[in-house]
Amino acid sequence: MTIEVSRYAEVHTRSIRDPEGFWREAARAIDWFEEPPRAFDPALGVYGRWFPGGVTNVCHNAVDRHVAAGRGEQPAIFYDSPVAGAKRTVTYGELQVEVSVLAGMLRELGVGKGDRVVVYMPMIPEAMFAMLACARIGAIHSVVFGGFAAAELAGRIEDAQPKVILSASCGIEPSRVVPYKPLLDLALTMAKHQPDACLIFQRPQAEAKLQPGRDHDWETLRAAARAAGMASECVPVEATEPLYILYTSGTTGKPKGVVRDTGGYMVALRWSMEGLYHVAPGEVFWSASDIGWVVGHSYIVYAPLLAGCTTVLYEGKPVGTPDAGAFWRVVEDYRVAALFTAPTALRAIKKEDPEGAMMGAHDRSSLRTLFLAGERADPDTVEWAQAKLGVPVVDHWWQTETGWAIAGNPVGLGALPIRVGSTGVPMPGYQVDILDEGGHPIGPDRMGSIAIKLPLPPGCLPTLWQQDERFRESYLQEFPGYYKTADAGFRDAEGQLFIMGRTDDIINVAGHRLSTGGMEEVLAAHADVAECAVIGIHDELKGEVPCGFLVLKAGVSRSPADIEKEIVALVRERIGPVAAFRLAITVNRLPKTRSGKILRGTMKKIADAQAWNMPATIDDPATLDEIAVALQARGLAKATAA
Ligand code: COA
Ligand code: AMP
Repeated sequence: MTIEVSRYAEVHTRSIRDPEGFWREAARAIDWFEEPPRAFDPALGVYGRWFPGGVTNVCHNAVDRHVAAGRGEQPAIFYDSPVAGAKRTVTYGELQVEVSVLAGMLRELGVGKGDRVVVYMPMIPEAMFAMLACARIGAIHSVVFGGFAAAELAGRIEDAQPKVILSASCGIEPSRVVPYKPLLDLALTMAKHQPDACLIFQRPQAEAKLQPGRDHDWETLRAAARAAGMASECVPVEATEPLYILYTSGTTGKPKGVVRDTGGYMVALRWSMEGLYHVAPGEVFWSASDIGWVVGHSYIVYAPLLAGCTTVLYEGKPVGTPDAGAFWRVVEDYRVAALFTAPTALRAIKKEDPEGAMMGAHDRSSLRTLFLAGERADPDTVEWAQAKLGVPVVDHWWQTETGWAIAGNPVGLGALPIRVGSTGVPMPGYQVDILDEGGHPIGPDRMGSIAIKLPLPPGCLPTLWQQDERFRESYLQEFPGYYKTADAGFRDAEGQLFIMGRTDDIINVAGHRLSTGGMEEVLAAHADVAECAVIGIHDELKGEVPCGFLVLKAGVSRSPADIEKEIVALVRERIGPVAAFRLAITVNRLPKTRSGKILRGTMKKIADAQAWNMPATIDDPATLDEIAVALQARGLAKATAA
């Protein structure tokens, strides 16, 4: 396919010139209980709202309508868990029953429309049932990733104020079983808000102790509900009502509650399955992510089901469960048509199977396209995957906030030529500009801040949970008329976007989004630490890993090595293992500007052995040499000043 046959330009232009017509047409792919009278109302919400007046239900569109249309026998979910040694196929018909029963159970526990439900669960089918059951009764779910620590869970509980929490006894990592219940119990001792009830799914790998009165055994309630013939219909939900809140790292330790609406999200996701991913109803779509992340919400759960596809729920890793052939085994077993993963997963596979021998051992003939997102895809990895797999490797760029791709290569409209290193072109409804420091659009090939003209297209966040003002301040204030992505990059002469890094303190560790500011708060809380700075440094496998610098308080006589160990443990305890914080380095002082700003950017360049220039405003140039020496002592940073 070449640029000549792609309908992209025509489709994107129409979406910008006639958004009302474009999105109303896209909205026809959704079942509405009441048709929205218009696509967009600029007078509502912070910057306008999509499909006001429309009434629908996500669960109906993702499940019931397919059963009614004769897809009841088609698999909806292929659950495959090398870590639990389990496999299960759930048809659309079975999914409807499970979700309807669970929705009834939630109602019995007092959950109604607009109530929040926290879901803290591993990658098991029940987690998907939980999300869909909430959608069925108009409750707002908030899924918390299993790799976070109790304190992070507590913060989310405090903010979302859930009526009920759905959890499981444990998650399973290749190296260990992770009991979730003690983390949940600890989180509930930390949070002021207490749910009315917790529903716990017991897994045989580690059964949880239930607290009488508050905790309920999932299977016991389910069996009783089924015996009583309990079911729950899909309730009508306004298109502008929230489907979920998903917390994501912000520029402080307090995560942002990204709100996702009901109608706009469905319309955008449904469009993307054909227009971007080129997958048809009945085909198998696999997003090798986790339901705790936005990619999991959108492309494990909602989009494939809205499109009548079969989704793969894979509870395993790209390597080690049992080997680097795992992804290709799953592709073969389920005849996966499109695979979506993070570049870090491919790097892990490439490291263990550089020649692609394990790839060759599997029939991958069903696979048409590999999609990458979550972090910058390094050209080496993209080229390796393309050569070994023999299918197009499409990098695409998005954020938790947008819920679907901002830019990509719209394979369904006819693929554009792949430019390795680029994340493609803006998707329908997105008007992307590269801005200079004054907020003025700049021409091709020049680095700047990437911003999206308002209004954001359907699917993107309308606001932060109960924090309109924080939403304005964080995203809309700096560049009036735009949404600030906080990514920096450029556009080439053909309009392809290149995303080079963040303009804030967010780092991407193995495709997981984390705030270095949040980690600094943890370091600063240690009794012996006077000052600290955390930066993301290059890592061959994970893309970036955090590295913390500590200045100890005067008079501290304990060994720095002991304090560093405590700091590493503290980040694991407060943020979670997912932060992969293993490097804490004690220094005498931090490099600063004369006005006292820590020179994190220059420290990062030194650590990454990149060329760097002495900042004109530096207070004492020797401080940067001290950082280089401290890093070199740990085997990092080999370059000197340019
Ligand atoms: N529950 C509990 N702990 C979890 C967890 C979960 N759901 N997910 C990860 N962890 C833990 C891991 O066990 C590990 O703990 P450890 O420090 O005791 O080893 C730590 O968090 C870091 O995990 P991870 O980032 O998975 O690193 P890894 O070294 O175990 O594996 C990769 C490396 C590249 C294989 C892995 O990061 C990966 O598959 N990444 C892809 C990520 C992805 O798909 N992101 C979604 C964006 S699209
Ligand atoms: P998350 O909200 O976890 O999806 O992380 C969003 C951030 O990840 C973006 O703001 C980018 O910094 C980064 N990101 C996501 N996809 C890409 C990509 N394809 N290329 C480069 N960076 C990406």
